[in-house]
Amino acid sequence: MSFQSKPAWAGDDFLSRCVNLLIQTKPIYAVMKQQARQVLIKTAQKNGIPWRKHYEELAASGIQQQAPQVMNAAVHYPNYYQVPFHAYEKGNLCWEAAFEAESATQAMALRVWKDEPLTWQAAQQRLRSSFHQVLAQHITQPVQEILDIGCSVGISTLALHRFYQSKLDSSVRTVGLDLSPYMLSVAQHRDAKGEIAQWIHANAEETGLPDCSFDLITLQFVIHELPRQATTTIFREAMRLLRPGGHLAIVDNNPQSSVIQNLPPVLFTLMKSTEPWTDDYYTFNVEAAMQSVGFEHMATVASDPRHRTILGRKP
Ligand SMILES: C[S@@+](CC[C@H](N)C(=O)[O-])C[C@H]1O[C@@H](n2cnc3c(N)ncnc32)[C@H](O)[C@@H]1O
Repeated sequence: MSFQSKPAWAGDDFLSRCVNLLIQTKPIYAVMKQQARQVLIKTAQKNGIPWRKHYEELAASGIQQQAPQVMNAAVHYPNYYQVPFHAYEKGNLCWEAAFEAESATQAMALRVWKDEPLTWQAAQQRLRSSFHQVLAQHITQPVQEILDIGCSVGISTLALHRFYQSKLDSSVRTVGLDLSPYMLSVAQHRDAKGEIAQWIHANAEETGLPDCSFDLITLQFVIHELPRQATTTIFREAMRLLRPGGHLAIVDNNPQSSVIQNLPPVLFTLMKSTEPWTDDYYTFNVEAAMQSVGFEHMATVASDPRHRTILGRKP
């Protein structure tokens, strides 16, 4: 079998252009979007993820009233962030997306090992652990201050924090940052013991945080949702925020994964129809972009059957 650097359903290939045409046909797109949502919820519920129950609990929790506490009114939302996303008309800027994000994240982990009889809890644990193990293997310097960019409802942030906390005697300070005040409100609500030092509402391209203030910055499942210019700007900002010798770690869809390359047409079409920057991500040389802003590329590892972890170091 010949080596493929990316799926044929992404980029400028014939197959990809056909799928894009389908997606751009508005009435078809409207139906597909709703179908994608229904398939996602049904599959999750079938696998024991309490999607609807969890939604109702959050909706009744009163966190809507606490949102102004996390919200930074000065934040400007870039155009790429204000388009429909994941079948939500307002993308990440709505309660519906925030109330469903945890269930969607659990469902995502289950899809990684879909042929194994894992519970959703075990799949999530394995997903996070596969990333942490790569960090542990390659980062030998002490890690005490961590920034999780695109933290969403905080699942990645808490798992990463607990991993480093369990490795060290001294205390680790972890901060989660996201552009959605809705996601951050849920993150704060989930962080019942206040383990995370701060939940910050900011654009990762321009955080306003001080220079050289972190040892490790992570982007977990964020950049496949961004146009490449935004990703490169975030890399430049990460370069500024890291201390010399600090690390940037990215985990995301692996264009070279055979599972991803061989996704059934229904799935990749649904994926492309709900994540508008898919083509851009799958044709983007992430390592080169990191290097272009001054990072040393340390490693790219297929950390699980679907994802890769990319590590860079600030000289
Ligand atoms: C798929 S979620 C990340 C999931 C989470 N890191 C995890 O591993 O479970 C992507 C997140 O990136 C955030 N995001 C997208 N663009 C951003 C930006 N420019 N600045 C900060 N956050 C951004 C979105 O609001 C969303 O919550």
